[in-house]
Amino acid sequence: MLHGSFSRILFSFAYISFTMAEDLKIIGSGTKEAQYQSLLPQIAALIQGENDLIANLGNIAAALREQFKWFWVGFYLVKNDELVLGPFQGPVACTRIKKGKGVCGASWEKEETLIVPDVDAFPGHIACSSASKSEIVLPVYKDGLVIGVLDVDSEYIAHFDEVDAVYLNDIIKLIDA
Ligand code: SME
Repeated sequence: MLHGSFSRILFSFAYISFTMAEDLKIIGSGTKEAQYQSLLPQIAALIQGENDLIANLGNIAAALREQFKWFWVGFYLVKNDELVLGPFQGPVACTRIKKGKGVCGASWEKEETLIVPDVDAFPGHIACSSASKSEIVLPVYKDGLVIGVLDVDSEYIAHFDEVDAVYLNDIIKLIDA
């Protein structure tokens, strides 16, 4: 009897460990390139076989924040004629952004990755938080259409460069695969 209960508990632990395999291996040191290279296949594995967009965007935002500890990372999604806040990690943020407005709206309108080393020098920048000093925004595509943007904010000036642009683009391309 006791043996039976013990087996059931053991089985439950094994089941829980098996079903909760979505953990990340975070590398605490190394170049930015090395960190992206470690993360990219893990994100691919996380979203592989899952076709729910919100679930996948949520996990991408969480994985990126866990690795890089950025101030804010998340998605805005195109809904009618504006961007609406989607899955994100970090402090609360502005909910709606019009096309062409702020860095996010400009990236959407131009369909371009925008690297902003100093947000105060970007005309029309939308300050969801005064702590954010630099930013990178990339358009996110699905089936050839822009469905939103990935926005990353840092509390440090000039925190993002072409390396981020290249690897973040590789990551968001996984959504369109
Ligand atoms: N700074 C952005 C707004 C979004 S927040 O940074 C999360 C912009 O100018 O579009």
